[in-house]
Amino acid sequence: MEPWPYRTIIEPFRIKAVEPIPFLHPNERRAALSRAGHNLFKLKAQEVTIDLLTDSGTGSMSASQWAALMEGDESYAGSTSWQELEAVVHRITGFPHVLPVHQGRAAERIMSRTVIPPGAVVLNNTHFDTTRANVEQAGGVAVDLPVAEALRPEVVAPFKGDMDLAALDQALEEHGDKVALVMLTLTNNAAGGQPVSMANIEAVSARCKQAGVPFFLDAARFAENAWFIHVREPGYDTWSVADIARRMFDLSDGCTMSAKKDGIVNIGGLLCTRLDGWAEKFRNELILGEGFTSYGGLAGRDLSAMAVGLTEALDPDYLRYRQRSIAYFAKGLQQVGVPVVQPAGGHAVFIDAGALAPHIPPAQLPGQAVACALYLEGGIRSVEIGSLMFPGSRLELVRLAVPRRVYTQSHVDYVIEIAESLAKRAPSLRGYRIVKEPPFLRHFSAELAPL
Ligand SMILES: Cc1ncc(COP(=O)(O)O)c(C=O)c1O
Repeated sequence: MEPWPYRTIIEPFRIKAVEPIPFLHPNERRAALSRAGHNLFKLKAQEVTIDLLTDSGTGSMSASQWAALMEGDESYAGSTSWQELEAVVHRITGFPHVLPVHQGRAAERIMSRTVIPPGAVVLNNTHFDTTRANVEQAGGVAVDLPVAEALRPEVVAPFKGDMDLAALDQALEEHGDKVALVMLTLTNNAAGGQPVSMANIEAVSARCKQAGVPFFLDAARFAENAWFIHVREPGYDTWSVADIARRMFDLSDGCTMSAKKDGIVNIGGLLCTRLDGWAEKFRNELILGEGFTSYGGLAGRDLSAMAVGLTEALDPDYLRYRQRSIAYFAKGLQQVGVPVVQPAGGHAVFIDAGALAPHIPPAQLPGQAVACALYLEGGIRSVEIGSLMFPGSRLELVRLAVPRRVYTQSHVDYVIEIAESLAKRAPSLRGYRIVKEPPFLRHFSAELAPL
């Protein structure tokens, strides 16, 4: 693969269809935020200028994907769309059992309800919030084992998504037979979208084999993780991204996958495994909640679009552009005085709100204060990943997730400009208090009030 010799980050696509974005008056934004209970999840899309809430299901599909939609086969069982998808997933992952689901958390729910008995322990580099919620809902105990540098936003290290191997050894020893599953989340979303090295995947895999514990990947961002291994891990620069991805999957017993990320589809997911016994349980549970095993809660056309998207996500020109454009975003924010998690992650830039607004204590939700201010200032929607999302969190972050193939460099420059003006008045930001909250995943629907 030829390295790109130019300074300019050129989008590896041209634009075929455009969608206008709304521009609101500051008073309209103030009214919208107040109506939304100061929870950015409750804003209407037409109230948002640049939507960086999530990179999940918000990507632009390619012309090939739109064409594949038209070819979608809506047969209830054994559709050609399903055959195409199954073949692509077999090729990319090598897993013999492939189950379609409507999105990542459906895979997590099926897995949790079938193979995580009450009291069982699940070890993960860092559980994503829906993974944790599903494990806990099944009565399991979700334990995070991130490396120490994952909790230090200022530390630049190539693989801050790794699992702490000493902590894994200790947990396997301490919990013994109670450990039902070990997972690695690639990339580690809750720890800043940081990648996991192949060396770490190998080490975790070996320990799981020795302990006789199944090892799964949360492969939502498998292609981005493989790209980071390609560019950062010694010895992998001569490997293709597809071969790296395949090796990651080969080291595991299965995966959950939200295809709304590296599948570059608006809806879809997968649950795959090489464990015959677990596959049987998964299939039965899938039929109960998602539908037949050849469509899993999706239309045939969705399966076709996913088959194309999973292949496109492994294109090195696309992955290079994606990584470089996110690094550009992080560097731009830093240059205007906004502290960000180092180094830039694979799908998002994380503002270190704890460092930007150190005068706001965690109990007053500094991340939410920064996220609301970004909206009020420039109509930018982000998400707090700190004490609101994870009570007791050690980090107070604001995630600016970058949808795939949606925004151009000028959109990013606008966000940097808005963040610059916010950074200048950061000392005047005030915290928030929670007025109303649901029993779990409170950040989605909590109501807040400014202090
Ligand atoms: C790492 C990770 N796992 C699982 C999920 C859940 O996937 P979904 O939103 O498709 O249910 C997400 C979603 O953001 C994620 O980032």
